[in-house]
Amino acid sequence: SSDEESGEEYLFKIVIIGDSAVGKSNLLSRYARNEFNPHSKATIGVEFQTQSLEIDGKEVKAQIWDTAGQERFRAVTSAYYRGAFGALLVYDISRRTTFESIPRWLDELKTHSDSTVARMLVGNKCDLENIRDVSVEEGKSLAESEGLFFMETSALDSTNVITAFEMVIREIY
Ligand code: GTP
Ligand code: MG
Repeated sequence: SSDEESGEEYLFKIVIIGDSAVGKSNLLSRYARNEFNPHSKATIGVEFQTQSLEIDGKEVKAQIWDTAGQERFRAVTSAYYRGAFGALLVYDISRRTTFESIPRWLDELKTHSDSTVARMLVGNKCDLENIRDVSVEEGKSLAESEGLFFMETSALDSTNVITAFEMVIREIY
């Protein structure tokens, strides 16, 4: 591409974190491949996808890392966070315990990355309005108090998935 010819290339690492089964892997597959898996298995170790987008006429590549929410399936934590420019902290709006875990994920992120990381709180599964367990206000309020962007998403029906990733990528850029 012309970016490569001019020697300009932008590659940003973004990490997705949050409890098991909140939908991290499906947010990534929806964003990177427009795919949703209703029967996805728990992630073991680390996976990543690279997605290109154009910002201000420049090609920007986001390398998005996804790991296990379950402790026993996680890889070396410091390596996962190393070099990250952005982070999505995901909970499931239909399971309050996953929202209550966010401060722990935030602590881990703070421990392993520097303070300039662009961070977004993501309340996923907003299609499950009928069994909602965390209000939009609670999400917003936590995000405000911690200085995070906030968005509710649905990997199932695609609500705000592109917007959430691209807000973080643009903030980095
Ligand atoms: P770990 O890899 O164990 O950390 O889980 P994960 O956070 O990657 O969750 P995953 O993407 O595997 O999704 C867990 C379950 O939730 C799967 O059955 C998905 O189909 C379902 N799921 C994911 N996103 C959504 C969503 O937006 N809405 C609904 N209704 N279900 C979803
Ligand atoms: Mg997963």
